[in-house]
Amino acid sequence: MANFLVVLLFVACFFVDSSVALRLSSRLIHRFSDEAKALWKSRNGNASGKFWPRRNSLKYFETLKDYDLKRRRLKIGSKYEVIFPSEGNEVVFFGNEFDWLHYTWIDIGTPSVSFLVALDAGSDLLWVPCDCIQCAPLSASHYSSLDRDLSAYNPALSNTSQYLSCSHQLCAWSTTCKSPDDPCTYKRDYYTDNTSTSGFMIEDKLHLASFSKHGTQRLLQASVVLGCGRKQSGYYLDGAAPDGVMGLGPGNISVPTLLAKAGLVRNTFSLCFDNNGSGRILFGDNGPATQQTTQFLPLFGEFDAYFVEVESFCVGSSCLQKSGFHALVDSGSSFTYLPTEIYKKIVFEFDKQVKLNATRIILQEFPWNYCYNSSSLESSYIPSMKLVFPLNQSFIHDPVYTLPDSQGYKLFCLTLEETDDDYGVIGQNLMVGYRLVFDRENLQLGWSKSKCLDINHGEAGHAKPPSNDGSPTALPTDGHLSPPNRQEIAPTAARAFSKSSLTAPHFSLFSYCCLRLFLLLFEFVESML
Ligand SMILES: *[C@@H]1O[C@H](CO)[C@@H](O)[C@H](O)[C@H]1NC(C)=O
Ligand SMILES: *[C@@H]1O[C@H](CO)[C@@H](O)[C@H](O)[C@H]1NC(C)=O
Ligand SMILES: *[C@@H]1O[C@H](CO)[C@@H](O)[C@H](O)[C@H]1NC(C)=O
Ligand SMILES: *[C@@H]1O[C@H](CO)[C@@H](O)[C@H](O)[C@H]1NC(C)=O
Ligand SMILES: *[C@@H]1O[C@H](CO)[C@@H](O)[C@H](O)[C@H]1NC(C)=O
Ligand SMILES: *[C@@H]1O[C@H](CO)[C@@H](O)[C@H](O)[C@H]1NC(C)=O
Ligand SMILES: *[C@@H]1O[C@H](CO)[C@@H](O)[C@H](O)[C@H]1NC(C)=O
Ligand SMILES: *[C@@H]1O[C@H](CO)[C@@H](O)[C@H](O)[C@H]1NC(C)=O
Repeated sequence: MANFLVVLLFVACFFVDSSVALRLSSRLIHRFSDEAKALWKSRNGNASGKFWPRRNSLKYFETLKDYDLKRRRLKIGSKYEVIFPSEGNEVVFFGNEFDWLHYTWIDIGTPSVSFLVALDAGSDLLWVPCDCIQCAPLSASHYSSLDRDLSAYNPALSNTSQYLSCSHQLCAWSTTCKSPDDPCTYKRDYYTDNTSTSGFMIEDKLHLASFSKHGTQRLLQASVVLGCGRKQSGYYLDGAAPDGVMGLGPGNISVPTLLAKAGLVRNTFSLCFDNNGSGRILFGDNGPATQQTTQFLPLFGEFDAYFVEVESFCVGSSCLQKSGFHALVDSGSSFTYLPTEIYKKIVFEFDKQVKLNATRIILQEFPWNYCYNSSSLESSYIPSMKLVFPLNQSFIHDPVYTLPDSQGYKLFCLTLEETDDDYGVIGQNLMVGYRLVFDRENLQLGWSKSKCLDINHGEAGHAKPPSNDGSPTALPTDGHLSPPNRQEIAPTAARAFSKSSLTAPHFSLFSYCCLRLFLLLFEFVESML
């Protein structure tokens, strides 16, 4: 009887796995799109059409020149080589359960409270759940990947917190200000439908750490502004960033901007997402001298977001004609989005190359349209994708999600999606395996292949940055990176990774489902005895 049930259950698990229960999400949380459109509309009376000056046009060079002047004004000396959140520079990834975003633990306030914030290069605001009217569930029991409860912030309990008033220069967004002494409120709408956070703005201490010469850590604090997120909506209540977001954009209020302004580090930071689901975040990191780079594009002459120009796109060895586009580099996007016209060319070419040895299939629970079944595990050919940037810089990525554990055949999907916008979005899936440097001082994106853990070790020798003022950014050679309390996090998804970072969470959720069913079964069998 029990045996029969076990078999039945296995079947049930596989059925669940390949059908309904594990619908994969794919979301964008950056806030850029609507704003850019509104801005374009307000300046040109038109929301459609290309909002970029044509490349090499006079306007283009004028905006570049403006851009150059602006950045010189930003440049300041810095106190530390690199700093990172006081809980360690580790980035964690829980796959589908937390919408494929990457997170880190940060400590805010006095006494400090920990938050697991999503790392979003596509927005500026740091917000955390706070004095909740409507927040996502914070108890660990709601999440299979967490074994520690998430927290809400309460400004009344932090003796270093201060309300931001309407007169504060960083209260530019508020729409409710009537007098300069009013509290500064905020509301942010994000790209994905109905997703927003609102509340009021607070100034408080963010706890950070730096490496000393001997590789030990020194703690420090920096004043930052943050949103006390009283009311969240949309995907913030449903998987994405339940414990807040750290906006890493170029805006005035973002944490990297405030750290550089305070003279703590250079105006740059890096994100590294490794293949098995962990990673690193470092403020002040310029990256290795050998990295490839491309300039950020100005938008209306301002440096508002991390836009880059992709000159062309190659599928395998075939580089497509007229496949250039502008793209927002956005760690807050689950996957990668391409303007329709470019997307069509790429999937056509991909399909042509792949279908020689694989059959196209529909997998309904996936957000992708190009999925395949290949009967030969070894010989199945999946072309790489190459993004070519100006000056022959390039970025190569394996663009597929491979489903785990099929017997005798292999199922995979191309993880690119289509967007109506006239720019693309380079999402977190393309960043995996790379260390990305957001060098706001030199207005360029840098990237190099990395296992991330290496960043802390032995890189001092060749990590000479292309620095203008000659100050070194040699990284420490011996890092004790994980303070003891990091062990409280259960990197269940991270541990289970096999090949692609996209595979394991699916697998671990699936195992979890089986495990839960087994536990239920045994309880059931026991109760019958
Ligand atoms: C608005 O867009 C249309 C089509 O994209 C274009 O023909 C028109 O010139 C634009 N108008 C302005 C004021 O830019
Ligand atoms: C703030 O709280 C910390 C610890 O909770 C305490 O050490 C410190 O003295 C307090 N500061 C003020 C100004 O009350
Ligand atoms: C967004 O919210 C509005 C009103 O609350 C609702 O009508 C609409 O269906 C929502 N859209 C999505 C995609 O949930
Ligand atoms: C950023 O701050 C500077 C000066 O502090 C100000 O001139 C500028 O308008 C601000 N930008 C935004 C977008 O608020
Ligand atoms: C990630 O994988 C590499 C080997 O590919 C291994 O050396 C490393 O320890 C793994 N890291 C984690 C956090 O599991
Ligand atoms: C994939 O192909 C194999 C045979 O080559 C078949 O047994 C299997 O059912 C197919 N899987 C899907 C999901 O189409
Ligand atoms: C398809 O598979 C065959 C062997 O099964 C192999 O010889 C051939 O190179 C493969 N084609 C591609 C495009 O990989
Ligand atoms: C561009 O780089 C590739 C290698 O990444 C090289 O083969 C090619 O010759 C380069 N082209 C030019 C024009 O430098």
